[in-house]
Amino acid sequence: MLKWLLRAARGAMEGGITETVEGATRLLVPAASLTAAVPPREPAFYNPRARRNRDVSVLACAALARARRGEALVLEALAGLGARGVRLANESGGDVRAVLNDLNAAALGLAGRSAGLNGCGGRVEATSEEACRFLSARARAGERGALVDVDPFGSPARYLDCAIRATAHGGMLSITATDLQVLHGLFPAACARHYGGVPIRRTPHARETALRLVAGCAVAVGARLDTTLEPAFCESDMHYYRVYFRVRSRPDTRGGLGRVFHCGACGRRGVLGGRAACECGAAPLVAGPLWTGPLFDAPFAAAMRAECDGRRAGASCARLLERAEAEAAMPACYYTVDEVASRARSSPPRLARLIERLRRAGHGASPTSLDPTGFRTTAAMPEILECA
Ligand SMILES: C[S@@+](CC[C@H](N)C(=O)[O-])C[C@H]1O[C@@H](n2cnc3c(N)ncnc32)[C@H](O)[C@@H]1O
Ligand SMILES: [Zn+2]
Repeated sequence: MLKWLLRAARGAMEGGITETVEGATRLLVPAASLTAAVPPREPAFYNPRARRNRDVSVLACAALARARRGEALVLEALAGLGARGVRLANESGGDVRAVLNDLNAAALGLAGRSAGLNGCGGRVEATSEEACRFLSARARAGERGALVDVDPFGSPARYLDCAIRATAHGGMLSITATDLQVLHGLFPAACARHYGGVPIRRTPHARETALRLVAGCAVAVGARLDTTLEPAFCESDMHYYRVYFRVRSRPDTRGGLGRVFHCGACGRRGVLGGRAACECGAAPLVAGPLWTGPLFDAPFAAAMRAECDGRRAGASCARLLERAEAEAAMPACYYTVDEVASRARSSPPRLARLIERLRRAGHGASPTSLDPTGFRTTAAMPEILECA
């Protein structure tokens, strides 16, 4: 199969293909994708700006494989030209095998050649099927993945059932969403349709609300399948949201779905309790149903951080993971220094200094990995303003 795909791809694409390096992996990619503002989907899709999320995937896979005595089967349902899958097979260490699937046979041809370039061709298999068919067939054959990845254009919602079924007990599922306008509340009806929840527009912690909507949708699908999905790590960048879940084949009895609120009048926010009105008396904006539980698992973030040493993007990933570890036990809905400044009618306080002051005043406080200007705290806005 791989040989056939290789031949099919070669004739059509030889011209505009170039080699690039991500992490420790050589990748063959369309030259235009390195320069275009929006990477072309034909002949194969490659987005160089998604490198950081692939760096994180490698760390997650390496940590997972280490915990499984080196062995891990990766199922990548929408693999494109293998930027992620070939990197996982090449850089995760141990005996990581990857099955890369994509409807685009030409993209898989490039994946096969890239795997060959890196000497990991023996651990990379390629198949060209519709993603759900691919995942369902693997689940039926009992070849469930230790790591299953779903990285579509737009929403991952339609792939969740089969992706959850194709993930091994104790394994991990990672999903990407790039339908940012939907998740940020521009099209609330589409958000309700795809994610089963109401978004809110223009809050400083909009990224977190978006991630919680994505996580909530996957958790709800899992619950329906008597499978528990525990968010273990999440990240956002300009153009994507990603959530990693630990998957356990047992009924979900946690009831972690709920709503979050944001009060435009006083700045309070968090998981919505019983009251419909904010403490200040105003009616807050409300989003959900969505995931209201932890977004980060500190031991897993630490295990990923332990894999950073000696890697090309190791230092910046380690900083990200350090923040994730610190915020794991902190409340939902972060604040930003800019909103503090606009309420205090002053220039933005320095993040590290504000966190220090909050801690000295007896509040819990930490930075957040989701926004370089953001922080989490047990204090509410009135107390934050006293420390600003
Ligand atoms: C965002 S790209 C994947 C990028 C890749 N995971 C990476 O990290 O570079 C999405 C891919 O999904 C493929 N695709 C779209 N719909 C599909 C489907 N229903 N089944 C399988 N592949 C599909 C496209 O050909 C495209 O290569
Ligand atoms: Zn209020």
